[in-house]
Amino acid sequence: MCGIVGYIGSKPAQPLILEGLKRLEYRGYDSAGIACMDNGKITVVKKAGRVANLEAELAKTGPLKGTIGMAHTRWATHGGVTDANAHPHRDDKAGIAVIHNGIIENYSVLKTYLQDKGHVFKSDTDTEVLAMLIGELYSPSEGVDLEAAVQAALREVTGAYAICVMCEGEPDTMVVARKGAPLIVGIGAGEYVVASDASAIVAHTTQAFPLDDYNVVKITRSGFRTSTTTNANVTPKVMQLEMDLEQIELGRFEHFMQKEIHEQPKAVRDCFRGRLHKEDGKVILGGLSNFAKELVRARRVVLVGQGTALHAAMIGEYMLEDLAKVPACAEYASEFRYRNPIIEDRTVAIAVSQSGETADTLAALHEARDRGALALGVVNVVGSTIARDTDAGVYLRVGPEIGVASTKAFTGQVAVLTLISLFMARRRVMSADQCARWIEQLESIPEKIERILEQDARIRKVTERYVERDNWLFLGRGYNYPTALEGALKLKEISYIHAEGMPAAEMKHGPIALINDGMPAVFIANRGRQYDKVLSNIAEVRARGGHVIAVATEGDDDIRRHVEDVLYVPEIIEPLSPMLTVIPLQLMAYHAAVIRGHDVDKPRNLAKSVTVE
Ligand code: M6R
Repeated sequence: MCGIVGYIGSKPAQPLILEGLKRLEYRGYDSAGIACMDNGKITVVKKAGRVANLEAELAKTGPLKGTIGMAHTRWATHGGVTDANAHPHRDDKAGIAVIHNGIIENYSVLKTYLQDKGHVFKSDTDTEVLAMLIGELYSPSEGVDLEAAVQAALREVTGAYAICVMCEGEPDTMVVARKGAPLIVGIGAGEYVVASDASAIVAHTTQAFPLDDYNVVKITRSGFRTSTTTNANVTPKVMQLEMDLEQIELGRFEHFMQKEIHEQPKAVRDCFRGRLHKEDGKVILGGLSNFAKELVRARRVVLVGQGTALHAAMIGEYMLEDLAKVPACAEYASEFRYRNPIIEDRTVAIAVSQSGETADTLAALHEARDRGALALGVVNVVGSTIARDTDAGVYLRVGPEIGVASTKAFTGQVAVLTLISLFMARRRVMSADQCARWIEQLESIPEKIERILEQDARIRKVTERYVERDNWLFLGRGYNYPTALEGALKLKEISYIHAEGMPAAEMKHGPIALINDGMPAVFIANRGRQYDKVLSNIAEVRARGGHVIAVATEGDDDIRRHVEDVLYVPEIIEPLSPMLTVIPLQLMAYHAAVIRGHDVDKPRNLAKSVTVE
């Protein structure tokens, strides 16, 4: 979604915040803008389209001067993708400029109120309303400085926001605030970098603190003050950002998605490090150790997530029932939060999220927790909102994921959910010997992923054969039904090919009507309990002219007789197979997008982190 970068210090602000803005491009956006203040005068430049358009405009206007400034990438919600709707927005009275992530839900009422007071609006956005409101309330002669005006304005708004505000009347001050959308203040030597994402901060400092909801921070070059919107003092929790520049740079790869697919062996190793104890036949998860009793006694587990995270959660559902023998169900967080769910005593809710900022997942977690569930997080971004709002949790430790299409986070989520299942299983129903055998299988995964990645060139060749087709099916059963959903999602989100994923048995209940001559159908057909049934489904597709690409188990030569193309994955016990079978699907989606000429890391309309409903 939208991105925020702000700077106050002694260096020229423009190059620094533009560089930060580029690091946020991956989040998805459709326009960009910048404001810098010099000698008490704010200059704003903004353009629809990419940051490159903004840079071209700045090349015409000349660089903006000033050592205080802010920049924004906008993902349109209120109002179309136009220069006027891009941020920053200004008021018409007090020299205020605002950038904003989130949605001001009562903007319409506030706009009418402000129009009645004579304010004239230039955009269709909710953010301009906020800028006007702050300007309306700003009154230094009556003791209402910028900080107080922002606090007062935010007391009037409903909705979600992360904002950064400058004011010509206070040229050495920047005020930032948050509710429901992430914002971090990076602390340097005599300078501060504010951003919606740590990746725009780490080049300058690794000391930082995230804002909590309703926090307002007034920043000057000599220090900062954190308060609430009601002006109560707050002591922020300063932490070390665990991210280095190399992790967020492309290195030898052409795209972040490609880099992250190839990072998966390392990502899974990092995820397992220190957690698998084969000799003792147990899994140690520091984040859950204080809640082991609750997990042993759990009656039910509810997993919530969206998109890829939901697919991982669905595998977690199978795994928890299979291994830990606890009833489990995975649900769209967006549905769960509004459907008046029944949360029985001793329910555990697990929010699965790469970013830890997905609005629906966060709200679903709150709903479950408010109804008495133990709230756990399976999150990648350290210190993110979901990570902070849970009772306990387990981090993925797969490193920053920049590609909009989630890849290594998926394997990390499945890996962590497997660890949680074993953690619970070992205390409920599983012997140390059985657990040790699972651990042995888990330890083999990184090397097996490496073997799949070695087939990259062949996977591209197979993709080339089908890439012109506009409709694909992805089919799987059992543990690999969610993998089929994930394969379809990957293909559609970056290559814009229509793809449907479903349980292979469901095909006969309608979707089989879609199959026509040469339609690609990707079957996850690794050896497992339902292998023969999958073969029957393959036959049904081919009988209608469909072309089958099978993801099969190494050594299964016989399957070649039944399909057009085979991509092999090493043998592994069935519950762990999604961490292998998904890899060829990720690579196929990647190659399809590249061959079709799409911008893999900035797919149209998509945002990395969906912080609005
Ligand atoms: O950050 P989260 O894991 O909560 O994000 C959930 C989904 O928005 C995300 O997985 C999305 O579906 C990706 N674009 C999938 O590649």
